[in-house]
Amino acid sequence: MSDRATVAPPPATPEGAVPTVAWASDDTSAGPGRGWPGRVELLDQTRLPHEIRVLRLDDIEDIRDAIRRLCVRGAPAIGVTAGYGLVAGVQGFATDAATFAARLEHVDERLRTSRPTAVNLAWALDRCRAAIAGISDPGAAIDALLREARAIHAEDEAACAAMGHHALELLRDGGTYLTHCNTGRLATAGIGTAFGVFVSGRHAGLDLTVYAGEVRPLLQGARLTAFEMRERAIDGYLLPDSAVGALLRTGRIESVFVGADRIAANGDAANKIGTYAIAELAGAAGVPFYVVAPTSTIDMSLTDGALIPIEQRAADEVLGFRGERTAPDAFPVWNPAFDVTPAHLIAGIVTECGIARAPLAASLAAQLATGV
Ligand code: MRU
Repeated sequence: MSDRATVAPPPATPEGAVPTVAWASDDTSAGPGRGWPGRVELLDQTRLPHEIRVLRLDDIEDIRDAIRRLCVRGAPAIGVTAGYGLVAGVQGFATDAATFAARLEHVDERLRTSRPTAVNLAWALDRCRAAIAGISDPGAAIDALLREARAIHAEDEAACAAMGHHALELLRDGGTYLTHCNTGRLATAGIGTAFGVFVSGRHAGLDLTVYAGEVRPLLQGARLTAFEMRERAIDGYLLPDSAVGALLRTGRIESVFVGADRIAANGDAANKIGTYAIAELAGAAGVPFYVVAPTSTIDMSLTDGALIPIEQRAADEVLGFRGERTAPDAFPVWNPAFDVTPAHLIAGIVTECGIARAPLAASLAAQLATGV
């Protein structure tokens, strides 16, 4: 274990690959080191795995739309995008303090309401706004906003590396694992949360086999996790979501690792729809079920998972795929994007501070209080 733990972390973005989210500025007139005006650059995940397309966005409605359409998705990556989006949205409104303040409220609202479940979005906006409390000059405020957004980006990268490091003790050379949704570098600013555990294990020299569900209806597993498995040379299989029960009954899976979009104070965890069913099936099969998420995903203001807002998405996502109809037109649809796994089904929550275990409420509170 100690040998594994001393291995330097793998790069957040594989060599030569396009980063998931970045801030870009070619401004020179605004002064050295200022870094704005600029734009948010997003690897358009709706096109993956077959097309690499970068979106360069400085219009707040375009950034909101990119988040809503899942061009960028995954709780931590949404949080990083929100930080940069705030800068992009206010940078043209530095004329005077009143104009800037009104614009800030507007941009905040457009970003905050773009997706409801991933708490990293509101968390990042709150953090950026706190960083400019007491700064009256709009230019200085934008400088501070960009500094904070960059700090959120860097901290998420470091948190991913730390989660991967802590979780090494949950892996075994030759081990076989199951994951759900995409929780890798495409969902974060680093190597990922749950998927980052595999990246970290692979980097430490472990042979791993990863089973990834395809994740209906938007196929984050088939399109994105399989893409990342290729990028990181991780072996494994895609499976239809409906095959998870059968897979768990084979006895092949040693543990399940998933991410989270919001974790309540008692440890209940919201994640991509289908996660809860996997947790129940894993419990029935005696397979440990782990959640991997940074502390920025923990919402201590919510006592339990019943209070987590669950995004309902458009019927079109279920009635067809990429414009091709597979169901009768206008057929009624129920399309929640997330579900909540109760804390009692979770063997541990891996954060950048360590591995929280039952009782999760006390263990998470201690991590947040002490940082370990
Ligand atoms: O709807 P998405 O693709 O944004 O959902 C993402 C997930 O549910 C991930 O599993 C979760 O955000 C953890 S990502 C590190």
